[in-house]
Amino acid sequence: MKSKFERINRLPPYIFSEINNLKFKLRSQKKDIIDFGMGNPDMPTPNHIRQKLKDTIDKPGVGRYSVSKGINGLRKAQAKYYKRRFDVNLDINKEIIVTIGSKEGLANLAQAITSKGDKILCPDPSYPVHPYGFTIAGAKLTPLKTIYNGKFNSEKYLINIEKNMKKNFSIKAVIVSFPSNPTAQIVDLDFYKDLVKLAIKYEIYILSDLAYSEIYFENNPPPSILEVNDAKKVAVEFTTLSKTYAMAGWRIGFAVGNKTLIEALTKIKSYVDYGAFTPVQVAATAALNGSQQCVEEIRQTYKKRRDVLIETFARAGWEIPKPKASMFVWAPIPDKFKKLGSMKFAKKLMINADVAVAPGLAFGKNGEGFVRIGLVENTQRIRQAAKNIKKFLD
Ligand SMILES: Cc1ncc(COP(=O)(O)O)c(C=O)c1O
Repeated sequence: MKSKFERINRLPPYIFSEINNLKFKLRSQKKDIIDFGMGNPDMPTPNHIRQKLKDTIDKPGVGRYSVSKGINGLRKAQAKYYKRRFDVNLDINKEIIVTIGSKEGLANLAQAITSKGDKILCPDPSYPVHPYGFTIAGAKLTPLKTIYNGKFNSEKYLINIEKNMKKNFSIKAVIVSFPSNPTAQIVDLDFYKDLVKLAIKYEIYILSDLAYSEIYFENNPPPSILEVNDAKKVAVEFTTLSKTYAMAGWRIGFAVGNKTLIEALTKIKSYVDYGAFTPVQVAATAALNGSQQCVEEIRQTYKKRRDVLIETFARAGWEIPKPKASMFVWAPIPDKFKKLGSMKFAKKLMINADVAVAPGLAFGKNGEGFVRIGLVENTQRIRQAAKNIKKFLD
């Protein structure tokens, strides 16, 4: 058997599997693990969206193949969202494509645009499909530090991006993603203005992943890179309904912006998929076009959890900076456990406090020294976790 699978061999062992195996083992021993490990929304999808799915599912023809680039109505709804939220105009035929979640879109775009020898600039730490989508596609990754002396520093990060663009002609694209998973860092429009200038100057594409566009807590709606004049010359942006409407399992996302990149993604997707199930796309259209009160409720739920977590963990002896957006808390390992590193600390926390978190190392080597805590347990469970952690730290 010729079982040398070159692409698979490029992927490192899956760090989460060690943590997941331990979780399964402890749960099988009847331990009640409070699980902040994965960014998997636990709230129900709002009722009117579920109802739309139910209403559509009995319509004739909906079981047939759908449209790989997404149904017209859904692309129109996404155009309306960009207009009302960012004042950005999009051509629904050339500048918008529906994806089966943004993860799929990012991975397929990587396949579509990567040529041999291409380099990609990617933040480290980062959501894994950013580097690994391109690693699978055969690109070489240049991981860029975003945290300096324990803090996000967007100026140093930009200087680093420019230094790399200047010296390396094989860079095809730079990936940015703010609010960030895992670090919850945010940027303002000026960051994108500078980045777009650089990308145009050095003829490099920008892939922006705006998964947490609606999960923000301080009256600070995150900007879109497409708000920058000329951004469409170089940039494509991914958004998703997974977090905004608690629809992670439904698998609906979008790529919008630069026509060349949208065309490339549309072409590759026309070969590899038929689009999401039509009733799901119809319900997703209802989500974007309907009342946005549910989004405010989801935002407030995350905010409340964030506040309870930061407050109760601090009382337990674990001081953590308060994130301004995203559904994550990026927590420095408490001093007395720093030496253990994030993997050993995460395991120790699970064994001794029944609390599961994601080790920072799972998101890149610059994630070491931190763990990511997902706001995916309710406030009662967060308070219980804080009690367990207090005992453990004492
Ligand atoms: C930054 C980021 N991008 C993309 C995704 C995946 O989104 P989707 O469900 O649309 O594939 C996630 C999920 O956690 C994420 O954090």
